[in-house]
Amino acid sequence: MTDKINELLRRVEEFKPKAAAEIEDFRIKILGKKGELNALLEEFKSVAPELKRELGQKINHLKSVATERINTLREQMQQAAADAPETEDMSRPGSAEELGSRHPISLVKNQIVEVFSRLGYTVAEGPEIEDDWHVFSALNFPPEHPARDMQDTFFVEKNPDILLRTHTSSIQVRTMEHQKPPIRVICPGRVFRNEAISYRAHCIFHQIEGLYIDEGVSFADLKQSLLYFAKEIFGEQTAIRMRPSYFPFTEPSAEVDVSCNLCGGKGCPVCKGTGWLEIMGCGMVDPNVLKANGIDPEKYSGFAFGMGIERIAMLKYGVKDLRLYFENDVRFLHQFDTAL
Ligand code: PHE
Repeated sequence: MTDKINELLRRVEEFKPKAAAEIEDFRIKILGKKGELNALLEEFKSVAPELKRELGQKINHLKSVATERINTLREQMQQAAADAPETEDMSRPGSAEELGSRHPISLVKNQIVEVFSRLGYTVAEGPEIEDDWHVFSALNFPPEHPARDMQDTFFVEKNPDILLRTHTSSIQVRTMEHQKPPIRVICPGRVFRNEAISYRAHCIFHQIEGLYIDEGVSFADLKQSLLYFAKEIFGEQTAIRMRPSYFPFTEPSAEVDVSCNLCGGKGCPVCKGTGWLEIMGCGMVDPNVLKANGIDPEKYSGFAFGMGIERIAMLKYGVKDLRLYFENDVRFLHQFDTAL
């Protein structure tokens, strides 16, 4: 019996598992219910009484050595698994972190904000889900105006008072609510219109609008500010022209064109032979709008302007399809990295 015990002790000490599963198999074989240790204890029952003391001690020793060895091996195996990545092939090429780039719409928005901040404008923001007052009523839209129609505006649920803003002029109304003149704000944001998606229109796009109210603000101030803006964004050689237009919230109103920087004003397919590209709407704030927002039109005057950021970005970068801005194809987006 002593030989058997010694033999088992030797096997326990020499046991070198290659995988965690082998340790468990070994434990069951030696220490399990039907294992070799229990077989020895069974045999121990019929051992002569004078040998019991010595053999008993040996078996106990074997049991504790086996238990300890198995626990140690388990721990070593776990540690090795945790350390494993470090023992991997260190010469393998690393997996490079892909750097993102700023979206061209953000780039252009930031540039426009920067230009106007030099003229003293600060950025104002507002909610995308708006009410009729901030988008239409406070801006002198007559009740029957087509923009209020389901065809043009996305309403939220069935409530005609809650809608997705169709322009960021709503932010200008919110600014006038809590700020007294002089007011000089630039309002960037996402706007929503029920339009068919094509290469030149989308139902979601970005606008940036401006509002300047103070004593004695004139149309000449408006024109000079927009000329400065156009030169900063499209280049020093850029000229602007204004064509009479109509907006419910401005009077007089104008459409602003910049000289086509592709053909230098001679006429090309991009400007459809005219030499001019339309970039925004503008005008002197209608006295009704000032009144509706608690500003005395006898004392103050102001101008407002608004443009689509996608449109400016298309002209600036020569992008012909507006849908590219929404598809998030990294091959398209990465081209603007250098503009960072
Ligand atoms: N809010 C107008 C639009 O969305 C743009 C605009 C702003 C025109 C300010 C004139 C003055 O089309």
